[in-house]
Amino acid sequence: MKDFIVIDDLSNQQIEHIFHIADDMAGIIESGTPLLCRGKIMATLFYEPSTRTRFSFQSAMMRLGGSVLGFDNPDNTSVVKGETIADTARIMSDYADIIVLRHPLAGAPKLMADYASVPVINGGDNSHQHPTQTLYDLYTIRKHMGPIGELNVGLCGDLKYGRTVHSLVYALARLGANIVCISPEALQMPDNVKKRLKLKYKREIETATRLEDVIPELDVLYMTRIQKERLPENIDYNSVSGKYVIDKSLLDLAKREMIILHPLPRVDEIAYDVDTDDRAFYFRQSGYGVRVRMAITALLLGALKIPDSVKSEPPPRTVMVNKKCPNPQCVLNHEKYLKPEFEVVSELMLGCIYCGYEPVDIDQTSK
Ligand code: NCD
Repeated sequence: MKDFIVIDDLSNQQIEHIFHIADDMAGIIESGTPLLCRGKIMATLFYEPSTRTRFSFQSAMMRLGGSVLGFDNPDNTSVVKGETIADTARIMSDYADIIVLRHPLAGAPKLMADYASVPVINGGDNSHQHPTQTLYDLYTIRKHMGPIGELNVGLCGDLKYGRTVHSLVYALARLGANIVCISPEALQMPDNVKKRLKLKYKREIETATRLEDVIPELDVLYMTRIQKERLPENIDYNSVSGKYVIDKSLLDLAKREMIILHPLPRVDEIAYDVDTDDRAFYFRQSGYGVRVRMAITALLLGALKIPDSVKSEPPPRTVMVNKKCPNPQCVLNHEKYLKPEFEVVSELMLGCIYCGYEPVDIDQTSK
């Protein structure tokens, strides 16, 4: 595996193996003996705001003995002069040994990986996926709740524009968890995600509108904020925010052993008095991000290896067809040198290789 772009780049067995490496990384953090990636450079290219992802990757690389460079504001780079993602990828491959990219266009990390000669890690692309977040979401669940296949997991909040829940729901489905989605009507799991869950993973998700109805059954409650910056004009933020707030009284209905996760930042969906409850795991979860990102970085840099006996995922089968990706936020509709290409998800579904959306006929879009 050269890059880490979507959660399906890793098999269940590989994910489990990474968790063991992450446990070892906790020992490296403790002892402060950073040798694994000495002399290597990580570029963090952040075209969107970030606190956790950028700093935890930088911290991870420094704790591995490497160094970091990068930007957190593309306005200070040649992007403003019109440099393409493909050219940025070629240039950065001479300056760094590994790239972490966060980008407002879905599929930009895949595009960068296609042109970079060094590994690329997706640090979040539009509403598409956030696979390293998913890795440490799963790590937290596995560490504190045991095998994921037995668990009831509730995903709550903005399930449409949030990217963390998209990579997470695929992984949970693959690992066999029972999934219930709780969201405002306008922010439900997108159809293409539900269809992929059904056709590729043979899984249906339950939906609920009231958190109080489902919370007594949950082992894990994964809260998310409304992605205000990505809401289209026809959805008013005030009409969808503040609907799902976990507070002490709601927690009284939950199991004693349930854990609450959140990719953070939180806005108002978790009351502050919940922070002191034993079930509040979100800060611990964000701390685990460093050891998990150390593990994936060391693997992609070749400083560690997953044994060949650990089963990997077969690469997706793709086809070129004369169709268009309907997602206006897909990189395919912005970088003009790209050709449409689709993954064969099943006999009944093609998905854009960049953003996962189902294609539409060219003439359908020109009307
Ligand atoms: C998330 C993201 O950027 O998608 N943040 C993060 O990386 N932990 C979640 C969010 O912004 O709501």
